[in-house]
Formats: sequence, C-alpha cells, structure tokens
Amino acid sequence: MIDPEQQQAPPALPQPPHRYDGIAKVTGTAKYAAEFREPFPRKDLVYAFIVQSTIPSGSVKAIDTHAAERASGVIAVLTPFNAPKLPIGPPKPPGKRSLSVLQDNEVHYNGQPIAVVIARTHIDAISAAPLLKITYDAQPPKLDFLNRLNEARPPKQPGKEPPHQSVARPDATSAGTPAATIDQTYITPIQVHNPMEPHATLAWWEGEKLTVYDATQYITGDRMSLAGIFSLPLDNVHVMDPYVGGGFGCKGSSWSHVALCAMAAKIVQKPVQLALERPQMFGPVGHRPSTVNKIKLAADSDGKLLLVQQDVTMTTSVMEDFLEHSESPARKLYHSAQIHTSTAMVDMNIGVATFMRAPGESSGTAVFEIAMDELAENLSIDPVQLRLINYAERDPTDDKPWSSKHLRDCYTQAAERFGWSKRNAKPGQMSEGNNLIGYGMATATYPANRSAAQAICRFLPNGRVFVGSGTQDLGTGTYTIMAQTAAEELGLDVNQIDVKLGDSTLPKAPVSGGSQSAASVCPAVQDACKQAKLKAGTAAIADTQSPLHGVLAADLDVHAGRIFLKKDPSKGEDLTELIARNGSKPIEAEGSAEPGEDKTSMTERSFGAVFAEVAVDRDTRMPHVRRIVATYDIGTLMNKQTGINQLQGGIVWGVGFALHEEAYIDPVTGRTANENLADYHVPVNRDIGTLDVTVLDIPDTKFNPLGARGIGEIGITGAAAAVANAIYNATGVRVRSYPITPDKLLRA
Ligand code: MOS
Repeated sequence: MIDPEQQQAPPALPQPPHRYDGIAKVTGTAKYAAEFREPFPRKDLVYAFIVQSTIPSGSVKAIDTHAAERASGVIAVLTPFNAPKLPIGPPKPPGKRSLSVLQDNEVHYNGQPIAVVIARTHIDAISAAPLLKITYDAQPPKLDFLNRLNEARPPKQPGKEPPHQSVARPDATSAGTPAATIDQTYITPIQVHNPMEPHATLAWWEGEKLTVYDATQYITGDRMSLAGIFSLPLDNVHVMDPYVGGGFGCKGSSWSHVALCAMAAKIVQKPVQLALERPQMFGPVGHRPSTVNKIKLAADSDGKLLLVQQDVTMTTSVMEDFLEHSESPARKLYHSAQIHTSTAMVDMNIGVATFMRAPGESSGTAVFEIAMDELAENLSIDPVQLRLINYAERDPTDDKPWSSKHLRDCYTQAAERFGWSKRNAKPGQMSEGNNLIGYGMATATYPANRSAAQAICRFLPNGRVFVGSGTQDLGTGTYTIMAQTAAEELGLDVNQIDVKLGDSTLPKAPVSGGSQSAASVCPAVQDACKQAKLKAGTAAIADTQSPLHGVLAADLDVHAGRIFLKKDPSKGEDLTELIARNGSKPIEAEGSAEPGEDKTSMTERSFGAVFAEVAVDRDTRMPHVRRIVATYDIGTLMNKQTGINQLQGGIVWGVGFALHEEAYIDPVTGRTANENLADYHVPVNRDIGTLDVTVLDIPDTKFNPLGARGIGEIGITGAAAAVANAIYNATGVRVRSYPITPDKLLRA
C-alpha cells in the first residue's frame, strides 16, 4: 500500500543497538534522586520523614514533640505550630496541586502530611515518628463515594475540554429508529501510581540558593514551584534529575514533600534527603479518580450510531478538583448522529487526584469500549465491523480533519495477526481443558500533544557532539531518541553524541507528561543541530585559514564531522580543525521548536486496535490473559526498542486495570487499606502471557517535522476493555465494574 503521506516521510533515524542510558542502568552507575551523596560532605547529609494524619477530616489540636525530640539521632521536628510561615501563604504550584506544607492545622484526608521528623539517619527519623503525641479535633468525613452519588456537583475547575458537550448532526433528525440500545452504568476504581522509584527529594541551601535532586517529570515546574513557595528568584533554584525510575503522572507535579524537604534543609542548615516509603505513595502524591459512567448508546439496524451519551461522576478531593476527561473517548472515537457528554464530581476526604497514565482515555476507553461490545452483541454485528461502520473520518465533535489517521489498518492488521476470524460470537463456546476461552477487542486512543521546547547543540574540539535539553527521561528513552535525532541531523553515529538532560540550567523543555516529550524535544534538538551547523559556517567563512573562507553561507553543509561546499564536497575541512584554529572553543547554538497552527486547524490523535485472548477457570473463575495483539497508528516510531517497550508497558498496565488494580479507601477511616504492593495488586510476568505489538509507522508530518506522535500513554488505553470483552466472550458474564476479580465472575 502506498500512502501519500509516506512520500514526504522524514529520513529514517539511525537505530542504536541499545538504550543510551542502558549500560549506566545495568551497571548501577545511573544515580536516582535519593542516591546522591555529593557535592556536600557526606557526613553532613541528614534525613527527613513525613508524619501523616490518621484521621480523614478535622484539625490537629496539638502535637507533643518532647519524646520524639529526645529520641536517638533526632535533630528537629516540624509541625504546623512551629514551621516557618511561607511568604505567600498556602502555595499553588504550577502543577496546580494543593499542598500540605504545615501552614495551617486543618486535616483534609487520612495520610496528609502533618509533621516532619529530621534525624541523622532515615531509620532514626522513621523510629521517632510514632513518638509524636498528636491530638485531633475530628469531624465527620466525606467518604463512601458510591453511596453519595446524589451529592455530585459540576466541576469547579473545568479542565482543558468542556465538561458538558452536546453535538447533534444535521442528519440527526432524519436518523432512523433505534434497532438496539444500551443504557448501563460502568465503574472504575481509584488507582494509584506505583513507579519502581518512589518519590524522593534531596535539598540543600547555600545562602539564598536552593539546589535539589528530585524524582520529577518536570524540573522546570519544580523550579517554578520552589521559587514561588520560598519567594526566590528563579535563578536561585537549581533542580536536577538525571534518571527517573518511572513517573506515570504522579511525578508531574511538585507535591508537598518537595517543599517540606527544602523547608527542613533551611531549618537545619544541612542537606536533607526526604524519600517516601511505599505506603506514603497512597494519598499525598495523587491517584486516578474513581468514575461512575452512565452510558447510553443507540444504533439503527445497520449498526449506525444514533446516540452516544456518557455522563461521568467522579471522586474529587475536598482540597481541590482534579478533572480527568473520562468522557473524551465517547467524543472522539466514533461518528454518531448525536453525542452528549457531561462530568460531575463528588467531594471526598482524600488526597488530590492527578494525571495517571492516559488520564481520561484509560478509564474512558475501559468503560466505553465495553458498551460498544454490548451494542455489537445486541445488533448481532461483529465488534470490529461495528467500529468500521461508525468509523470517524473527521473529529466527531469538532468536525476537524485528522492530521493523520490510519485506524482501519490497525483493525485489519491486528485482527489478522490475532486470528479474530476464529472467534465464536456466542459466549462460553470455546474451551481448553478446564478453561473457558474468550476473545475480545477494543479501540485505543490518545491525543498527540506537543509544547514549545528548547535545546542546545555543541560541536566539541574532540569531534564529539553534545546535545542538551531541560527535559526528563522517565525510563522512556528520551536520552536515546535525542541522540538519534542529533546523529541523523549531523550524519554521525549515535555513539558520537553525548546527551544531557534533567538539569534546570539547560534550555527549557515541557513536563514529560501527556506523551509529549518526543514530539516536543526532538524537533528542538534537530533545530539546535541546524543552528550549530550555521554557526560553524559563519566561523569557517570568517576564518582566513579555512578553505571555506569567504564563501556564501547558503553554499555550505555539515555532515559526518566535516564542513564543505555542497557543490564540491572535496572543498572543506573537518570541524575539529576549524575548532582547533579558533581557540579550541566548542561551536554551540541553541534551538527551539513549537507547535504551529496545526493545533487549531486539525485534530491530532493516535489510535490503535487491541485484541485479547483470556482463559477463565471454570471452577475458580480466575481469569488469565493469554495473549494480547495490538497495532497502533502513532506516526513515526523513533526507536524500535524503546517505543515498542513503551507500548508493551502500557498494555501490561491495561491488564492491571482490567484484573487487579483498586485502592480500597476505608469508608470509616478514609485510609487506603491496601497501601502496599502486597495488597495493591499489579500484574507480574505470570499475569501477562504473550504480547504482540506492531505499529504502522506512518509519519504524521503535519504534526511535527519528525512525524512522531507520543507513545507513552496510548498503550494502556483500550487494553482493559479488550480483556473485559474477552472475559465476557469466555463466560457470558458481563462485569461492568473494574477490576474484574473472580468473585464478580462467581457472583453473577
Ligand atoms: Mo502522564 S499521566 O501525562 O505523566
């Protein structure tokens, strides 16, 4: 198949044999935020531990610190009663999450930071924490979401998309009578990010200058947040973050512990490390809200959608609204005569929610794509066919063209690789031994995001090239694709490129969230390389000893470490010679890139098709995912290893969404009852089976020069519903509440 878009394809990137940071990671030289022990004298480092509220609502009346202060190694205890008052009052950092930094004694949720113990060792700090005698004035909490849905209210912070939207097409009135309708309620639970590396901060002050190592997805945001909280000029705050052990959204905002660590360092005038324990990840650093979705669908006898309606009610914190657009797949996936969506929120005494891998689209596809499966069954139409009948040739709600969309090919390719034609549409018909076997599918989708970014490129005297940007690598492959981009632009091998990121002294880049880093940073790296080539040209033209002295800049090119005349490549010299003659100073230039008008004139989005095979034990009803086959349309695949790995990781999380993950908020105490990885289940290798992930690799050059849309998040979308639909196909039991645990399959 020849695609017109392929004709303007950007040049293929060189594929390195392994990740740029692979060797550093497997040999242990890659240091994470909690592992730094310099530049200060090692003995100076002290440790802070956050003490959390044990009630969900009310206030702290008093904290008796005497016993804790006398405990071994304790240096100081910070409480709402002695903590320094911050110049601007309760801070609202750029990540917009409300913080608990000991500025008042109110308690909004069980687990809220209410004191900080600072001690000579981490163990000393943890051991002293229970010695605090805390008295509370407890108030009745707002918990038990599912029994308080009648308290739902409109969002106070509407978010980036309208919470209510109604679209009726001209053909809506003439549309036929419904042959099938769906009117059901679907529930997703609260889920909690659990990156391998828990949050950690190391902070120290030199006078009014603050330096931090922080596990963050956004060094620039951290810097703005800390500068704001402590009323410092931006230049006085330096944030570093060379390696991140996963983020998934929870490290996209500067939470309370970052400011508390800096506050502790200021009080004791020493470098302070504050690392969250795993249970402390459940509450103070965000979660995915729980959603209740009323979904109505109607279709005519040909399967054409007459109505799509999704009304979402979600949990929110009494501290601050966080709205995820779980209704967005209902608006963006299929053409329908009418589309209506709405969002409402129920106040809860829980921590503030936040972005969590594919916020909105994860929950949204998880529920909406079950409803589509139910509609297909009612109509006796194959689920893939139903989706093709309602294929959205343009954005269904905005009526804009797509920048590039090849979802049809995803359905075809993945269905073929999966063997979908062997599926029996009637549930409970396929079995193997004591297992019922089921096939299910769903559509994946996530928007293509991009922001302004800057980068620097330096031609070094030794012939190597340095590229840097104030971005982050969450384990996703940012280092690697920056090296590939520079190598391609400069005609060098990837191992001749040195990459630096995760340092706020580098040119600015956006938050590594919303799957935007590749699409934002790599065009900036490309531009920095182009600018550096121009700089080299200027230097050569001005240099009387250069063979290129006095030529026209437009006639020059730089490739593979040489600068030369385009018309006569033999006339030129090595960049190393040029640099050596000019004081051995690197030739450097900054570059930038930002989205253009495409953002408003078209809709930029990725799509995919996910197929799942499950086995469900006839007796125990234990579901097991045997294989997942998925094909994605994500534009250019920049790196075959790291890219496919991102998509696989997302699918694994989709399986966790379907079968395992749920944070149980105790309806009386408000504490997360399963705040550890033994009780909060995530998939392990045994839970996954085989993954067959392919991409179309069709560049979306209307979106950016590299044609690459981000891939950090789309993998989780659709995967949960594909598993849920496969379980229905195996068992005939339709579970509309995640996670799909054996008890729900037995009960039905
Ligand atoms: Mo992602 S949830 O935007 O880090």
